[in-house]
Amino acid sequence: MIFEKEVLARIENNGTNRRLREAASRFTLESIETRYSYNFRWLARPIIQYPQDMVAMQELIWQFKPDLIIETGIAHGGSLILSASMLALIDYCEAAEAGTALDPKASRRRVLGLDIDIRAHNRTAIEEHPLAHKIEMIQGSSIASEIIAQVHEYAKGYKCILVCLDSNHTHEHVLAELEAYAPLVSPDSYCVVFDTVIEDMPEDMFPDRPWGKGNNPKTAVLEYLKTHPEFEIDQTIPNKLMLTVARDGYLKRIR
Ligand SMILES: C[S@@+](CC[C@H](N)C(=O)[O-])C[C@H]1O[C@@H](n2cnc3c(N)ncnc32)[C@H](O)[C@@H]1O
Repeated sequence: MIFEKEVLARIENNGTNRRLREAASRFTLESIETRYSYNFRWLARPIIQYPQDMVAMQELIWQFKPDLIIETGIAHGGSLILSASMLALIDYCEAAEAGTALDPKASRRRVLGLDIDIRAHNRTAIEEHPLAHKIEMIQGSSIASEIIAQVHEYAKGYKCILVCLDSNHTHEHVLAELEAYAPLVSPDSYCVVFDTVIEDMPEDMFPDRPWGKGNNPKTAVLEYLKTHPEFEIDQTIPNKLMLTVARDGYLKRIR
């Protein structure tokens, strides 16, 4: 208990620690320019995330123990494998606690990934991964009505759902994804919206991209929240991570 209180106090202090926040901002700016997030792998698949956000996902998945994780934006598949590995670990720990034999393929827990363009080599590598049995993929735009319908159909029968949005980062696209998939998030679970950090970057940071300051996941989150009081921004997570691309993007469903 004392340890927990000390951690929470440190995290709260981080939020108002100007020097720490400035140091984090400087690192974030420099590291985005040097494409730092492209350097990591999760169980051998490239994952385009900051390690701190990966740790936050581990904490959230373990805390909520979802039976379905829906992710937009597959790329090389690293984030799908991360989610699948956490679900597999939950299966393992439940079996260990219950003293039962584990049939890895019998578990219902799944990750459902969507991408407009699942490259053949990425699909093959994901399908050949030992955790492939926990992963389903759908190719198509995450905001196309037929894809949204397929996802809602797939989600029927799942009770504990967590959603991660990490595809096209324009305001319009992310807002449409929030409208489509946030309603599937279970109470107490999260909708994690990546790359809200774009709003805090210089105007000319993404000249070759359709998104930028004023048109990005953070602007979409803020607009969505105006009419969706069932979600609130969890600031504890970014104040813990300090290095994150998803400040204001960890949305907790509170009812
Ligand atoms: C940043 S990457 C995803 C990274 C991945 N989540 C990870 O952590 O490794 C973005 C992906 O979104 C996909 N994408 C872009 N527009 C999309 C759309 N309209 N619908 C679904 N996926 C889209 C791209 O093809 C790309 O693979």
